[in-house]
Amino acid sequence: SRPKVIFSGIQPTGIPHLGNYLGALRNWVDLQNASLSTSDELYFSIVGYHAITMPQQPARLRTERSDMMATLLAIGLDPHRCTIFHQDQVPEHTELAWILNCITSMGKLNRMTTWKSKLATAKNVSDTTDVDDKDLSLGLFAYPVLQAADILLYRATHVPVGEDQIQHLELSRDLADAYNRRFEKRFFPLPKHIITPTKRVLSLRDPKSKMSKSAPDANSRVLITDTPREVERKVKKAVTDAERSLRYDPVERAGVSNLLSILAALRPPTQGNTGEGEGEGEAKQDAQLWADRLNAEIEATGASSGQLLKATLTEAVVETLRPIQEELERLRKDPGYLHQMEQLGRDKAQTVARRTMSQVRKSVGL
Ligand code: ADP
Ligand code: NA
Repeated sequence: SRPKVIFSGIQPTGIPHLGNYLGALRNWVDLQNASLSTSDELYFSIVGYHAITMPQQPARLRTERSDMMATLLAIGLDPHRCTIFHQDQVPEHTELAWILNCITSMGKLNRMTTWKSKLATAKNVSDTTDVDDKDLSLGLFAYPVLQAADILLYRATHVPVGEDQIQHLELSRDLADAYNRRFEKRFFPLPKHIITPTKRVLSLRDPKSKMSKSAPDANSRVLITDTPREVERKVKKAVTDAERSLRYDPVERAGVSNLLSILAALRPPTQGNTGEGEGEGEAKQDAQLWADRLNAEIEATGASSGQLLKATLTEAVVETLRPIQEELERLRKDPGYLHQMEQLGRDKAQTVARRTMSQVRKSVGL
């Protein structure tokens, strides 16, 4: 089959939490490893231009941009195998976004659910937000068009996204199609999504909502830089229940089920599994397999279900994070290397971006 061109991006907004890691970043590493025997091309972008669509602090953004680059390398992305780069170092992103803006209707953007929910939050002038709806920027409104430009600039064929981003990817397909009809037949492939196998990781403190970097309670999320003591403390505070045994039941036992699925995602209970076709069904099965295994131990030792689950999870989290944190530590001591990798990524991305834009300009008549 034809080689895939895979594109994905992440905002440089803070240290990633377990949800970001299991829901997005770890899948990037899996895609990279799966591509070792193919000639697929992979682009992973730190999308600084997206990060400025909401009010932000320049000094903080600067730090978070380079922290995110260090994080992507530390989790195991190989800058020689993938193109790992800062979107904001490749100005062609904004140029293509402008051209796409000119073939995007306002009506279509108005219907984007992310925009609608930001608008609703801002309109609902509560104390949880300092943004009034009149302050929401044109940049935020056009965010999905910039996202389309990110993808199309590399003529990507596949985009790993979470469910929440499917509508935006549809816009990218629409815009690719509109461009192709208007300016050049079949120039942009219509990008398809790759659904990431990992389910939503929920808040440790309120397992009705997803783990999120913006939730006020910092104990609701584990950051990939948390020390073993911090991990232990947060996991101890996680919501569970008083039942004697464990069962995967996300409706009735959301807290326990969330911890079981995180555990199963970090440590698949079925060793020797090829990892092929790992889907929602298997994830549930894995979580229940962990419950069975821990229940046997509860039977044998009389341990408390909550305590045993939490101790087991803490160990799995700490063990997963240890090599990542060691690598992060090493990278932070070597800004020269980091800078070199940023330039490598930028140069690789820009070579392709320039090629696309020179063709686009010609086709558009510029
Ligand atoms: P946050 O929601 O914490 O602000 P982002 O929106 O920046 O995080 O998300 C970055 C990536 O991480 C996206 O691909 C998103 O789908 C994924 N992601 C974020 N939170 C979770 C979660 N709780 N569970 C699974 N994936 C998540
Ligand atoms: Na978000």
